[in-house]
Amino acid sequence: MNASDVKATLSFSDGSPSMELPIYKGSIGPDVLDIRKLYGQTGKFTYDPGFLSTASCQSAITYIDGDKGELLYRGYPIEQLAQQCDFLDTCYLLLYGELPNEQQQRDFHKLVNNHTMVNEQMQFFLRGFRRDAHPMAVMTGLVGGLSAFYHDSTDINNPQHREIAAIRLIAKMPTLVAMAYKYSLGQPYIYPKNSLSYAGNFMRMMFATPCEDYEPNDVLVRAMDRIFILHADHEQNASTSTVRLCGSSGTNPFAAIAAGVACLWGPAHGGANEAALNMLEDIQRQGGVEKIGEFIKQVKDKNSTVKLMGFGHRVYKNYDPRAKLMRETCHEVLGALGLENDPLFKLAMTLEKIALEDEYFVARKLYPNVDFYSGIVQRAIGIPVSLFTAIFALARTVGWIAQLNEMIADPEYKIGRPRQLYVGAERRDVQPVEKR
Ligand code: CMC
Repeated sequence: MNASDVKATLSFSDGSPSMELPIYKGSIGPDVLDIRKLYGQTGKFTYDPGFLSTASCQSAITYIDGDKGELLYRGYPIEQLAQQCDFLDTCYLLLYGELPNEQQQRDFHKLVNNHTMVNEQMQFFLRGFRRDAHPMAVMTGLVGGLSAFYHDSTDINNPQHREIAAIRLIAKMPTLVAMAYKYSLGQPYIYPKNSLSYAGNFMRMMFATPCEDYEPNDVLVRAMDRIFILHADHEQNASTSTVRLCGSSGTNPFAAIAAGVACLWGPAHGGANEAALNMLEDIQRQGGVEKIGEFIKQVKDKNSTVKLMGFGHRVYKNYDPRAKLMRETCHEVLGALGLENDPLFKLAMTLEKIALEDEYFVARKLYPNVDFYSGIVQRAIGIPVSLFTAIFALARTVGWIAQLNEMIADPEYKIGRPRQLYVGAERRDVQPVEKR
């Protein structure tokens, strides 16, 4: 870390001795104050629920400028990656820091392809679930289940083990998501076909049956691949921080990723794509564009819990660059399928326009995030709404594992152990039951 010449001084109005805090400079982005010695020197903690002002680690993977609406993976703008690279190039970049050359590209594809099948026992594990279980419940179980299979890649202190666990996870997630889908339908599982691209293979495992093969449409495969790229990493979001915290105890890497899947499920995070599409469908059922005014009124009502799903972000206080790319992809996919007049897409665009001109959203800097349009694209591809978040998990796995491996290789890494401001009862004595 680069220490700055400038230091911060923390002083107290009760005359306690002040303290100097070092300041570090990132390559870009805000400086950070180093408060690690604060408790030792002053006996005080900092208080920051939700980490509004706290950097929990140093990382060289992803950078977001929330005011500009900029997202960089390893320095490369998301727009360039989405247009010029595919998902496996992006995985390589996130894991190793550089884009692959042609040879590296070939070797990496081969490496991932070597691991696309899952242990046959996984089928029996799946059978324990009800067929109507939510796919994220199934995915949390399946990914956790992987930790019982690969005993040769669980020593997180061994860089080769870390690498092979990363490749296994990236390779097997599409197979597992497709298996969870097929199980919900009661259809036979379709094994991976390694001659296809990563996204094409996933779509075939989802939509082919033993009686009928699936001919992937190039525009749809490209759209799927783009969804994967846009969701691949997003620095220290809730699920990534969960993976880091879970992994900081030295646990099995597959178990740490399962914790990330569980966190992603929530509607404030990855579950927002499912919630956003359900919201659009609800508005459409109630009368469509005509009903937007009424819906926006509910969203703005302080006494209601209704939110405009797919809007707002902790970091972006400008248009989420992923949402722009997702909206473009929506046009491409609906165009390719002859669905340019899709009523849900029209509704979404009108809703966006109205919200962006509304004082409530303007004042709070609430813009569409990646989840606002991704549901419409996925729905057009044929993916059921309940599977949207599982697709997000598939794509984010590379980010989780890259961040986990970065943490473990960091000499400054320690088990994560936040402190608290205790506001409960002071010490007291247990009374005999008749006196309580
Ligand atoms: N609809 C209506 N009001 C909103 C929304 C929304 N979608 N998002 C934020 N606000 C309001 C919020 O009520 C608050 O108003 P006030 O200042 O009057 O109390 C203000 O904006 C600030 O919001 P916040 O909840 O303090 O912001 P946060 O940074 O804690 O939460 C968020 C960020 C993403 C959880 C939130 O914007 C939200 O719940 N959005 C809807 C869910 C969603 O789309 N999530 C996906 C995020 S992107 C993909 C991912 O990372 O998983």
